[in-house]
Amino acid sequence: MASSILVVSTDPQGSTIWWADRINDLPFDFATAHDDPESLASLRDQGAAVHVICNQKGGVGKTTTTVNLAAVTHDVLGNTDKRMHVFIDTPGSLEDEHILTAALNVADDVLVPLPPEPLAFDPTARTISKVIEPRGLPYKVFINAWDPRDGKADRDDTIAYIDAMGWPRANTVIRRYKIHTRAAAEGKVVTQYPDSGTTLRAREDYFKLALELGYGGGR
Ligand SMILES: Nc1ncnc2c1ncn2[C@@H]1O[C@H](COP(=O)(O)OP(=O)(O)OP(=O)(O)O)[C@@H](O)[C@H]1O
Ligand SMILES: [Mg+2]
Repeated sequence: MASSILVVSTDPQGSTIWWADRINDLPFDFATAHDDPESLASLRDQGAAVHVICNQKGGVGKTTTTVNLAAVTHDVLGNTDKRMHVFIDTPGSLEDEHILTAALNVADDVLVPLPPEPLAFDPTARTISKVIEPRGLPYKVFINAWDPRDGKADRDDTIAYIDAMGWPRANTVIRRYKIHTRAAAEGKVVTQYPDSGTTLRAREDYFKLALELGYGGGR
């Protein structure tokens, strides 16, 4: 079956670009658009559902989220939803705001990863108030890379912060697992991890997020 999932990298630093080398093994198509962000406009003409993963704070998990959500959405959709889903990974810097803008111009919805670390809070707030909210786009903030071994306080403080800011929040929390970091080095996505208890939990997080966001047709 031809894949109806496309991942687009718009990051000139290119952490997603590396995934392109693995494309024959991945459950989605892959394209880059950092040289030509205007080319994104054609995605809307093709009737695709476009999901933009963004946060101008670097290293919060945009690329990890993009490839893994794309992978589970491929599985969730099966043969039922023929609509193309596009996941756009965006740069983690203020300098490349024109690229982010081009991506948001074609977005149906926006996803904002936020790690449970206070240092990430202010830059995330800037992205939301200066870049996302002025466009009136539907968006959701979700907690990424929470380590349950650190206790619930970090997670709950972050939930309290998001709610105090009045941001729409996904209930699903993506946990921190070493296997995600390791998999990136191997070019593997979450649906390709070798089975183990940890793998099942790691995979479950992304399936839950995809379903909560309605990517399985549940919206
Ligand atoms: N849920 C997670 N569990 C474990 N490691 C994670 C998780 N999410 C992200 N990471 C790790 O954190 C690091 C940063 O993640 P990633 O590259 O996805 O962030 P990014 O927002 O795309 O960064 P940049 O802004 O530089 O593009 C990577 O080493 C990645 O493997
Ligand atoms: Mg990245």
